Amino acid sequence: MKISIINGPNLNLLGKRETDIYGNMSFEQFLDALKKKFPQVEFSYYQSNIEGELINELQKVGYHYDGIVLNPAGYTHTSVAIGDAIAAIKTPVVEVHISNVHAREDFRKLSHVSGKAAGSIFGLGIKGYELAVEYLLALPPAK
Ligand code: DQA
Repeated sequence: MKISIINGPNLNLLGKRETDIYGNMSFEQFLDALKKKFPQVEFSYYQSNIEGELINELQKVGYHYDGIVLNPAGYTHTSVAIGDAIAAIKTPVVEVHISNVHAREDFRKLSHVSGKAAGSIFGLGIKGYELAVEYLLALPPAK
């Protein structure tokens, strides 16, 4: 089982960035714990602050991985191209947001990703990534 985790802009600053909203843990710390919790999963992790690089990564893993957990961060609300990339690939994508985007500014209520993703998790903190992995693990094998 291969799962790719892809994080968008500014998520390299988790643990330092607006900690009241995003928490104190760095993603690297969290990923270590996630790997221990799911030893049967081969994880790849990719983070970029650049929209086109996120699309390249989606295209790279999107035909042979079993699942993708994607937090497109700020590009969620602006990127038609990331939505198109998700529609183009075969691997199911779970959209994750650490914060409750619906309880924040109005511009965060629009997602170009939700309609193309298998489903979305928001507002459950960094735990949302773990729940997304559990969902992907429970999927029947792809035909
Ligand atoms: C975020 C929510 C986005 O609105 C924001 O731009 C982010 C992080 C989240 O995980 O809560 O950078 O995707």
